Amino acid sequence: MATAAENNAMRRAITLAARGLGATSPNPVVGCVILDAAGEQAGEGFHQRAGGPHAEIHALREAGERARGGTAFVTLEPCNHTGRTGPCAQALTEAGVSRVVYAVGDPNPQATGGADTLRAAGIQVEQGLLADEAETGNTAWLTSVRLGRPYVLWKYAATLDGRIAAADATSRWITSPEARADVHRLRAEADAVVVGSGTARADDPQLGVRGIEGASQPLRVVVDTGATAVRPGARVLDDTAPTLIAVADDAEAGHLPEEVVLRLPRAAAGPGLDIHALLAALHGRGVRSVLLEGGPVLAGAFVAAGAVDTVVGYLAPVLLGAGPAALADAGISTISRALRLDVTETVRLGPDLRITAVPVPARKGN
Ligand SMILES: NC(=O)c1ccc[n+]([C@@H]2O[C@H](COP(=O)([O-])OP(=O)(O)OC[C@H]3O[C@@H](n4cnc5c(N)ncnc54)[C@H](OP(=O)(O)O)[C@@H]3O)[C@@H](O)[C@H]2O)c1
Repeated sequence: MATAAENNAMRRAITLAARGLGATSPNPVVGCVILDAAGEQAGEGFHQRAGGPHAEIHALREAGERARGGTAFVTLEPCNHTGRTGPCAQALTEAGVSRVVYAVGDPNPQATGGADTLRAAGIQVEQGLLADEAETGNTAWLTSVRLGRPYVLWKYAATLDGRIAAADATSRWITSPEARADVHRLRAEADAVVVGSGTARADDPQLGVRGIEGASQPLRVVVDTGATAVRPGARVLDDTAPTLIAVADDAEAGHLPEEVVLRLPRAAAGPGLDIHALLAALHGRGVRSVLLEGGPVLAGAFVAAGAVDTVVGYLAPVLLGAGPAALADAGISTISRALRLDVTETVRLGPDLRITAVPVPARKGN
């Protein structure tokens, strides 16, 4: 059984790890806390950005000589490979820690093996402390490693009767300033924000993070098959963040800056572009987490493609009675094929409700 101090150390490491969300891809977020031989905190750190030092290195630097004989608490198995930085297993060994406790094993075939290396060096190694919490904090990266595509969080804002715009297409603003500020946090934590051409045409969204100091800006992506929705001067083409306009292989896109055009195959069946090809192209550019901001037609295509990992709905106590629903056709025509979800969190944001839910894993035979 872990002591209260050990639980606190790992919980602190998980909190620290979250500070890297949105800035570390293609790497995971990782936090580390080092207790000295007397059990006092000697150092802490987190992986701040891809290419920068790993969490363990920051924590070891802060701990200095006090790491010797101490214990390192790490949210993810220390890496074993030399990438842009040296292996953390070796750094922990050289610093003289006598014990390493990590929460979650590293599923990345290139980096795994750190625990074995540490054991071979005579260090006591334990896995699993607060593993569920640490895994939740690293969901995006772990999902992307498991599935070989970016993790996708679909977010929408709707009235209590499930509408995302009025019958005349006006939608600003359904939810409160508190809910809208929360969306900027989601943007800051994501590597890319994706919308469809319908949303680009209706709203001319800027899609950047605003109101969060020091936040890293996501890649902005508009899925615009015929290259007709995003015109020169569109807010998404401003220079505050990188942008990609995903268009069909054969689209006429001469009016767009060449560097923003991403050419993709059309969907094999149905309208628009191939969603899997889009996700593969983003993954190839280091994107490990996508915030899908709609609208309903594109979200329906993602659901139909089995490419939504988490749903975040902001529900406002407002009724419209007419207007588009949050989700359009998702290839579900009968109740037995409904996509069922588990609610993992409900939070009150000002007058609104934020509901987070994840698809229930398909049962065999379904
Ligand atoms: N409240 C909210 O949370 C929220 C969020 C976003 C938008 N909205 C509202 O939603 C409305 C726009 O929604 P929308 O559903 O019309 O537009 P949308 O989902 O943003 O875009 C749909 C378009 O995306 C393109 N697309 C590309 N690949 C696709 C694929 N594989 N499958 C399906 N479509 C694909 C299609 O046009 P092309 O093939 O011609 O490119 C399609 O018509 C606006 O009124 C906006 O204000 C509300």
